[in-house]
Amino acid sequence: ADPKQEMEKALLIFLQSSAIENSREYAETNGIEHNDLVGILKSLLSYEMVAAKETDSVRWALSAEAKGFVDANASAEAQTFLAIPGEGISLNDLKAVLGKTAEVGFKQGMVNKWFELVKGSNPLVMRKVDTIKDECLENLKAIAAGATLAPAEEKKLKQRKLISQEKCKYYAVEKGSKFALEKPKLYTDLNAEMMKDGSWKTAAFKNYNYSALGKPTEGGHLHPLLKVRKEFREIFFAMGFEEMPTNRYVENSFWNFDALFQPQQHPARDAHDTFFMTTPQTSDTFPPDYLERVRTTHETGGYGSIGYNYDWSLAEAKKNIMRTHTTAVSSRMLYKMAQEGFKPAKYFSIDRVFRNEAVDRTHLAEFHQIEGVICDRGLTLGHLIGILHEFFRRLGITQLKFKPAFNPYTEPSMEIFSYHPKLKKWVEVGNSGMFRPEMLEPMGLPPDVTVIAWGLSLERPTMILYDIDNIRDLFGHKVNLGLVRANPICRLQIPNEA
Ligand code: PHE
Repeated sequence: ADPKQEMEKALLIFLQSSAIENSREYAETNGIEHNDLVGILKSLLSYEMVAAKETDSVRWALSAEAKGFVDANASAEAQTFLAIPGEGISLNDLKAVLGKTAEVGFKQGMVNKWFELVKGSNPLVMRKVDTIKDECLENLKAIAAGATLAPAEEKKLKQRKLISQEKCKYYAVEKGSKFALEKPKLYTDLNAEMMKDGSWKTAAFKNYNYSALGKPTEGGHLHPLLKVRKEFREIFFAMGFEEMPTNRYVENSFWNFDALFQPQQHPARDAHDTFFMTTPQTSDTFPPDYLERVRTTHETGGYGSIGYNYDWSLAEAKKNIMRTHTTAVSSRMLYKMAQEGFKPAKYFSIDRVFRNEAVDRTHLAEFHQIEGVICDRGLTLGHLIGILHEFFRRLGITQLKFKPAFNPYTEPSMEIFSYHPKLKKWVEVGNSGMFRPEMLEPMGLPPDVTVIAWGLSLERPTMILYDIDNIRDLFGHKVNLGLVRANPICRLQIPNEA
C-alpha cells in the first residue's frame, strides 16, 4: 500500500479517540517525516476532516561541522586526542593529518587539559590523560534527539557555532467538523447524470481553486523566419513595392528556366540541382506565340543576340519541377505585364524555393528567397547600385561592394557583398543584375524598357539576427519547438540617418 495512505489511515484512527498536541512529537513517535505529515494534514483540512492550530516555535539545529562530529562519532578535540601517538607529535604534523579539525581540536583539548605542548627545538603535543569523555559529542547527540541541555552546556555549543536556533512550526490537531475515517468522494463537476437522478442535492463538491493556474495555450507562435519575412515585407512596402503572387511551388521548366533564357544544357537544370516531378510529369499551359519566340531566341537569337545555336526541345520545357528560384515568379509577372500593357512597376516576392543539393549546416534542400524587381524605361546599372544601397541600408547594412558575376538571364550581373562587423570580413549577401533583352523582348516588353532585379535568401539574415549557426536548428524536423514558442521579436538595427 501507499505509505502516505497508510499514514493517513493511522492518523485518522488515532484522532478518532485522541488529539495531537504537537505534530512534531507525533511524527517522531510514529517514525515519519514531519513534512509528510503536514502534507496529509493540509489535505484533510481541505475536507474539514481535521482542525489544526499552528504554533511557531524554535529549536536547536546542528551546524554542518557538528553533523560531521556526529558522523565521525568524535568531536574535533576527541579526533585530535586519538591522533596523538605516545611519543607526541608536532602541531604541523597534526594539521597534516586532520586539517582544520586539528586547529579546533587542539584549542579545545588544551582547554579540557587533555594534552599539553612540550616546548623545545621541535615543540610536541603530548597526551596528558589516558582516557577522555567526549562531552561535546554527547551533547550534540542529545540535541539531535530533541533533548534540552543545561544552559551552560548550550552556551558552550552556541559559542563554538555548533548549534543555532531554527524556527519551526508545529500543529495541534483534532477532529474536524466533517471527521470520518475515510475521505469522502468529492465531485469536481456537476454532470447531467446528477441532474437527472437528483443526487446533486446531496453530492459533496471539491472547493473551487481560484488561484490555480490555467493550462498554457499551445500553438499560435510565429517562427523566426516569419518574423524576419515581415521586416523585409515592410521595407519593400515602405519603398513602394508591390507583392507578387508566389503560390506555385510546382512550376514547369519553361517559366523557371526557358523564359529566363537559361539554355537547356545549363548545369543548373540537371537532376543534381533540380527536383523533377513524377506526377504530373509535364505541363504545357504556356502561350503558343510566346513559346515560339522563346524557341527562336534560344535557337537563333534576335533582339541583337545570336542565341545559343542549339535545337530547343519543347519536351524539356514541359517538365514539371519544384521551382528553383523566385525569379520564376518574376518571369510570369513580367510576361503578364507585357500582355496588359507596360507600366513602370516595383515588385517583390518572398517565398520558398527548392534545390537538390547536399544538406549541410548552411544549406537545406528548401529555403526562402527574397526578390526585388523594378521595371521602367531607361534604368541603368547605376539605378541598381543605388536601390541596393537603399534597400540594404534599411536592413542596417551600410557597407556594400559589388563583384561582376554571371547569370544566364542578367547582363550585367553583380554579386553583392557586405562588410560583417562581427566576422570582420566581407560576406556575400545577394545576387543581382539587369534582365537581358533575350528574356524581356520575347515577352512583348518594349525594347527601351529595362528591368533591374536582385535576390537574397531569407535564412542567412535570420540566422545572423537570431544567432543560429546551424540551419537545421532553424528549419526542419530537428527544430526545437521551444525556440519557436519563445523567440523574441525581430528588430533590424537601422542606423540613424546622418
Ligand atoms: N535568381 C537568382 C538566384 O537564384 C537571384 C537573382 C535574382 C539574380 C534576380 C539576379 C536577379 O540566385
